[in-house]
Amino acid sequence: MQIYLVGGAVRDQLLDYPVYDKDWVVVGASAEEMLEQGFQPVGQDFPVFIHPDSGEEYALARTERKSGKGYTGFQYHASKAVTLEEDLLRRDLTINAMAMDDAGNIVDPYNGQSDLKYKLLRHVSPAFSEDPLRVLRVARFASRYHHLGFQVADDTLSLMKSLSQTDELEHLTAERVWKEFERALGEISPQVFLQVLQSCAATLKVFPELHSQFTDTVCKAFTEVTNKTAQPETRFACLLTLCGEIDIAALCDRLKTPKAYKELALQCQQQHQALSRFDYLAPDTKLQIISQLDLIRRPQRLEALLPCVEALHSDISITTLNPILESINQIQPKQLMQEGFKGPELGKEIEKRRLQICESFS
Ligand code: CTP
Repeated sequence: MQIYLVGGAVRDQLLDYPVYDKDWVVVGASAEEMLEQGFQPVGQDFPVFIHPDSGEEYALARTERKSGKGYTGFQYHASKAVTLEEDLLRRDLTINAMAMDDAGNIVDPYNGQSDLKYKLLRHVSPAFSEDPLRVLRVARFASRYHHLGFQVADDTLSLMKSLSQTDELEHLTAERVWKEFERALGEISPQVFLQVLQSCAATLKVFPELHSQFTDTVCKAFTEVTNKTAQPETRFACLLTLCGEIDIAALCDRLKTPKAYKELALQCQQQHQALSRFDYLAPDTKLQIISQLDLIRRPQRLEALLPCVEALHSDISITTLNPILESINQIQPKQLMQEGFKGPELGKEIEKRRLQICESFS
């Protein structure tokens, strides 16, 4: 049995990038031998095992063949006879198809090192098309390594275009698409993720709402946002806001985004303009925004929303908001009751005092 470090860990080590996940490939072993050595199987009949001490993934060398649409439509073949080169051949990009033995020697049958040197994201073989998620992965790697000068190889982009013209991308689950999108939002150049997907028309299939909205102007503004904040939630909210009249709720529901992403994006789209010039708003408009955002009960919402406003606007006037909220919090309904207000009158009096506070800060 020979064991090699493989995939992203080898790539990132050669790029001098931090390595977080280590994947291993095992050549010349059977599933029974792995179990005998104490490895835990990850699934019932998938040739991947977890190391009992390190918790890292060890996969038997395998070949794969597509047998249907989507993620589950795969037939794999793992046996002691499958070679390292055969296993590397089924992988997505040449830079992800290198292995390293325990002496540090690199096995690189598909010229990943040369593509690292020339900064090319190039598919290993036509088997690339067997997993449509790879279109999004390439776009994500392009966004991660853009600042180093990486580009998608022409023939790989052509393959991504052909794949995007079929219905393959439509069979990807929302979870897998969102995972790639969310990871791309955390990369150094997330705008490149969308640019690459747009250039092969994959956006039409995975993010149809963004396809025509993500113009050069929006891309430029979004790039500025990404230079100001690294937070994926903030970047997502700003991106959708910059894209104009898109139905954010529908997009988030379709992609099954976490609730926090959806809520922040909706609040940002609806309120960023008004919040950016809050100090100049009429007192009743100030109070209206405070109640629409439910800021008296949920002041913590501002912690997420303000970075969006700051990222979208170079000039903001919002100094009165916090003092207004603090003063409003000082209003004591109990004391008003002692003063004789009750029922609907109490509600009206609270509203009146809140408005007076907004007036005093105008
Ligand atoms: N892989 C692939 N096709 C996929 C997913 C993964 O060929 N759709 C292969 C690649 O060789 C990849 C390896 O499996 O390098 C490990 O995949 P994964 O852990 O998802 O990605 P990494 O390449 O390690 O990248 P990241 O740093 O983004 O985790």
